[in-house]
Amino acid sequence: MAFRAVLLLICHINQQVGSCILISSKFAKFENIELSCGVSQYPLLPSVGDHLTCSKACKENPDCTSFVFTPFTSSTISNVRLGTCSFCPAYNITGLNYISIISQAETWLGFFGRILHPPSITYLPIPGALSMGRLLVIKSRVPIPEPERIIFDIFHSNKKDIVYRVSPRWSYKGVKERLMISSNVNKTWDVKSLSASKFPFLKGEDFEINILTTQQGFMVYIDGNSMRKLYDKTIHLTKDIGFLRFEYTDVYMISY
Ligand SMILES: *[C@@H]1O[C@H](CO)[C@@H](O)[C@H](O)[C@H]1NC(C)=O
Ligand SMILES: *[C@@H]1O[C@H](CO)[C@@H](O)[C@H](O)[C@H]1NC(C)=O
Repeated sequence: MAFRAVLLLICHINQQVGSCILISSKFAKFENIELSCGVSQYPLLPSVGDHLTCSKACKENPDCTSFVFTPFTSSTISNVRLGTCSFCPAYNITGLNYISIISQAETWLGFFGRILHPPSITYLPIPGALSMGRLLVIKSRVPIPEPERIIFDIFHSNKKDIVYRVSPRWSYKGVKERLMISSNVNKTWDVKSLSASKFPFLKGEDFEINILTTQQGFMVYIDGNSMRKLYDKTIHLTKDIGFLRFEYTDVYMISY
């Protein structure tokens, strides 16, 4: 078998968030998220298979960044779970749904980069992290005491443009306990302050930012709260996204 199951990481934060549980061959099974798809899903295999066969078929299809594996309930022959799998083409993925009841169908998302416990540098290359249909997951914790603000920037590879900024503010420039979403392309700031209800950041507590790249823009979810940011159509997502920078907090896991 060309596949070696790689068991890595465990990204539990709390029950409400889309925490992944098991990683094998660069796909991670997410227990409580599913992707919304603008079209009906395409079958990935001509007949049945296990999740490794599905991962392989997905990797070989340039439009496939994730798949849904539905195991047959009565098929545990020597620990191989057989079932069917289907996928949503990357361009037709429209968002994430957080589900509270674990369903029979499993969502497996492809990952190709992973940074655990990043070193003290706060400016990290993340090539390909925001290509179409990909999910970027950032896990961090609010420092004690709270800083004035925390910043997460997704930088263009030109190192000047900020394609996306997520910044919780506790008290900065007159703004108290608000989540700011902004961008700075061509020296022009576009800044949005979200309502007080979208501020899920508690001192000393973990939080998780999920950024899904869709054709309609970046879908950003913070602990299940969703917000959307349209990106500039001149930005070439695959080639132009260069770096993640964070300030005033520690990040302990990034995957994409
Ligand atoms: C699916 O993606 C294709 C390719 O980008 C696009 O032409 C088509 O309109 C999309 N379909 C829907 C229903 O979003
Ligand atoms: C930035 O400005 C230059 C010169 O005005 C223009 O050619 C370019 O299209 C702009 N880029 C974006 C992303 O707006």
